[in-house]
Amino acid sequence: MRSLADELSDLIDRFGPVPFDQVMELALYDPDRGFFTTTGAAGRRGDFLTSAEVGPLFGAVIARALDTWWRELGSPDPFVVVDAGAGTGALARAVLAAKPQCVGALTYLLVERSAARRGQQARGLPIVPAAFAFPPTAVDGDGFAVTVDAGTGPRAVSMAELPAAPFAGVVIANELLDNLPFRIVERARDGWKEVRVGHGAAGFTEILTECPPELTAVADAVAPQVIPGSRLPLQLAAADWLAAALERLTAGRLVIVDYAATSPELAARGRGWLRTYRAHERGTDPLLDLGEQDITADLAVDQLARVRPPTSRTTQAELLRTFGIDELVAEGRTTWHERAAIGDLGAIRGRSRVREAEALLDPAGLGSFAVLQWVMR
Ligand SMILES: C[S@@+](CC[C@H](N)C(=O)[O-])C[C@H]1O[C@@H](n2cnc3c(N)ncnc32)[C@H](O)[C@@H]1O
Repeated sequence: MRSLADELSDLIDRFGPVPFDQVMELALYDPDRGFFTTTGAAGRRGDFLTSAEVGPLFGAVIARALDTWWRELGSPDPFVVVDAGAGTGALARAVLAAKPQCVGALTYLLVERSAARRGQQARGLPIVPAAFAFPPTAVDGDGFAVTVDAGTGPRAVSMAELPAAPFAGVVIANELLDNLPFRIVERARDGWKEVRVGHGAAGFTEILTECPPELTAVADAVAPQVIPGSRLPLQLAAADWLAAALERLTAGRLVIVDYAATSPELAARGRGWLRTYRAHERGTDPLLDLGEQDITADLAVDQLARVRPPTSRTTQAELLRTFGIDELVAEGRTTWHERAAIGDLGAIRGRSRVREAEALLDPAGLGSFAVLQWVMR
């Protein structure tokens, strides 16, 4: 099979220097060789560790949050929860294992672009066909819709894209938007340039090209006063995704959890916001080893706010404390101490909860992640 480097080389030959979002698209999502379609495995043996993959504690706290948000909506049945960029389903499994009060009403949609990852979601989840996800009126007229009786949840549905029909409920996107392909611009003395990828003497290289007016407009708006040489990701796909998700939500909330900063903060960091990861370590140059490493950047909160300003911004640690992580950890610690001598599964789970909490609340790591919420009223 041809390599992704060969594919990129062909694109450059045909179309000239390629925008960075197209390089990311190829490297992360090529259907046969992309990082998320092949090697990119989340989890303890994988390339990165998200909060959902640290262990079940994150999902247990999210389950409590879902109960609160469900009651705020008037305890609807079905209660639609969309897990956007659901990966292999770790968050879904942990939420259901925590047995939230809303479970009998729960329609849990795992929206995941990668077919390989969707294929791993069935393990331990009550996956049903999409026709069982929505009331018949909301399903496009294919005749397969069924009436879902109250109290028959949980129903998990695996899908490739956000549902087309509007719905009330909760959308959660944990570490999704930082992986959506972005363009890159650089400030020159005479205005913005777009950083594209072309051929160099020793492989692929960055090339500064004329900046299209639509990119200049965004860059000027979000970072009007940066010094020459500053670089920015322009996260147009993330903004489009946000607009699409908000358009579908008729009531409830959208919750985005990610590493985040503002555009001026990113510009002040030089090129440090563009990162690659492989096997829990920082990877190499993003133009090398295409398809073998994750490519990501901090989410520019101000660029998302141009779509619609979020209702609130907190940290992950604050969110988890609001919904009782300390209580769950105290329970875990007690079980651990009571059962340490026996050393059974309960004791191990109790101890694991304490360790997981340290990672999830770490002010220098996951605990500092931004939680952006858009609440529909
Ligand atoms: C960093 S992983 C996060 C997985 C999971 N949310 C977690 O916390 O472990 C990002 C996931 O989003 C998926 N993804 C990327 N773009 C997507 C899109 N437009 N819609 C749905 N999933 C997407 C990727 O395939 C990948 O599985």
